[in-house]
Amino acid sequence: MVWVPKGLEGVIVASTELTKIDGQAGRLIYRGYDATELAGNVPYEAVAHLLWLGGLPAEAELLQLREKLGRSRALPVVVEDFLHSVAKVAEPLSVLQTSVSILGGLDSTKSASTVNASIALTARMPTIVASFNRFRHNASPLQPRADLSHAANYLYMLTGKEPRPEHVRALDSYFTLLADHGLGASTFVARVAASTLTDVYSAVVAAISALKGPLHGGAPIYVWEMLQSIGRPESAREWLRECLAKGDRIMGFGHRVYRTEDPRSKVLKRLAKELVKPDLFHLASTVESEARELLREDHPNRVIDTNVEFYSSLVLDAVGIPPELFTCTFACARSVGWTAHIVEQRKDNRLFRPESEYKGPADLDLHGLQKTEA
Ligand SMILES: CC(C)(COP(=O)(O)OP(=O)(O)OC[C@H]1O[C@@H](n2cnc3c(N)ncnc32)[C@H](O)[C@@H]1OP(=O)(O)O)[C@@H](O)C(=O)NCCC(=O)NCCS
Repeated sequence: MVWVPKGLEGVIVASTELTKIDGQAGRLIYRGYDATELAGNVPYEAVAHLLWLGGLPAEAELLQLREKLGRSRALPVVVEDFLHSVAKVAEPLSVLQTSVSILGGLDSTKSASTVNASIALTARMPTIVASFNRFRHNASPLQPRADLSHAANYLYMLTGKEPRPEHVRALDSYFTLLADHGLGASTFVARVAASTLTDVYSAVVAAISALKGPLHGGAPIYVWEMLQSIGRPESAREWLRECLAKGDRIMGFGHRVYRTEDPRSKVLKRLAKELVKPDLFHLASTVESEARELLREDHPNRVIDTNVEFYSSLVLDAVGIPPELFTCTFACARSVGWTAHIVEQRKDNRLFRPESEYKGPADLDLHGLQKTEA
């Protein structure tokens, strides 16, 4: 038996050709390409092709994938009915998760190949989130538009308006930056589920459970609430000091792998600067520098720097996504990474089955207990 650290840090449990993270240098690579260079320079659909199918697409291949995604966006009636019935009472990420589960249980989805199921699921997740949000606000869901890109269609279905090009570009970059990130908790969970040979949908349902937690994808709404609560740059230091004094974590900071600034954060910061009102950007950048300084004082031997969630919250708000949908939007972006990992796991599968060390008693005497009626 081999003991590994509690959080599995430093342990390699799979080999992958998808993503490399250099935590010391602050680099993120998708199949050889720097993710921060892909963002904004090639469309998200091309990044999806890269991750799912092994290379950046030629023009015709990209067109074909776009058509396939566009054709797959509409939801079955049963999912629409479900969204309608829970829109006013349920929490968005749970609704997304249950909708994915329903989709996976339908006969029509069962025969698809793993890659085709990945494409269909990625196409439908934004429709689920947007339709749910419209039901929530007493509006009917909009039919998805096959003539729009993945990012543009999501914004269109949320708002009902033709999205602004700069918003589409920013959301497309966000999708690319969040598309994959090695074995983050949700992707690890997806691979563990896939190793049982369950279907793509069920493995993604498992991934969404892990994404929900505030230590993973649940963070951006807390970042947003923190910025609202701080309110003015002058209040940042005191607010953050109090947060740390209470033993709370500053959301949007720290990472298990990066020992420097998260490279995705640099791109998102640039986008935020272009998109948000100067006052809000000034507040966020002041909070960022104060938090860095306080975290450096508290942890002189450990770099706790800005992570992807900090400026994500500003970018998502700027393009018109309500804070309660931030984590769902993260899930929409990450569906490509999750499913690419599921495809990869399937190609060289072995059931994940670690062991635990039992620390409880082993020889308790049942005979000394009073008998109770069954
Ligand atoms: C993401 C995260 C879970 C990674 O944690 P990790 O690398 O495993 O670090 P640990 O949980 O072991 O923490 C190491 C130390 O740094 C501190 N720390 C880490 N992130 C911190 C943060 N954001 N604010 C305050 N302290 C932090 C911990 O309190 C701990 O201190 P201690 O050694 O005195 O107990 C962690 O940084 C965190 O909770 N961040 C806030 C949530 C967030 O932004 N999540 C989105 C991640 S993309």
